[in-house]
Amino acid sequence: MQRRDFIKYCAASAAAAGSLQVAADARAQAYGRARLVGADGAPLRARAIPAKTNLIFHYPYASTPCFLLNLGRPARAAARLKTVDHQAYEWRGGVGAGRSIVAYSAICAHKLSYPTRDISFISFRTEKSARNKFADVIHCCSEHSQYDPAEGGRVLAGPAPQPLAAILLEHDPASDELTAVGTLGGEMFNEFFAKYEFRLALDNGGTPRRAVAGSTMVTPLTDYCKQQVKC
Ligand code: FES
Repeated sequence: MQRRDFIKYCAASAAAAGSLQVAADARAQAYGRARLVGADGAPLRARAIPAKTNLIFHYPYASTPCFLLNLGRPARAAARLKTVDHQAYEWRGGVGAGRSIVAYSAICAHKLSYPTRDISFISFRTEKSARNKFADVIHCCSEHSQYDPAEGGRVLAGPAPQPLAAILLEHDPASDELTAVGTLGGEMFNEFFAKYEFRLALDNGGTPRRAVAGSTMVTPLTDYCKQQVKC
């Protein structure tokens, strides 16, 4: 699907299906639709997502992790952002009844740190610390980039040159289900695959670029990852 077509698609979907993080002039990229499901395979309900808890799912590829967060408060209604190559785009807030559900690529926009099964340097942090002057941010302990999940993944501090790429979620108000439908902002998937090619192939049965479609399982970060580095 071409970008222009996807933008039209977003507008049509928003009218038809309740709330969607619609990108008016955005670097929106459509991918396969993937319903968010729990470990039992049942659709995840937005109202059941615990507040301020790190949840992980993979999208749009089998090896590309994303954070799913309930901020516990409404996200900003919109945010004007720019990619590293100065492409402007608009993020249109959270979804769900409280407009508090957001999702982002968990690949740091600085040097691509990401949560693995063994260790994670990047996660949502509710608390401030000596190296983290903001609460309720996504913090990468590698070089202390901090991102605001309530404002489209905007960079608040550190060396990251652009926001985290947002994952576009569609919320069905009737069923309260969530479906990932695309990305918005500066994707770094090509760089990610190039940098970690060997490891990603090992961890994903040789097919790290397998597209996620149909459904994707949401897992607490504490279950997904053995060790979370705090800083
Ligand atoms: S890799 Fe995340 S701050 Fe450098």
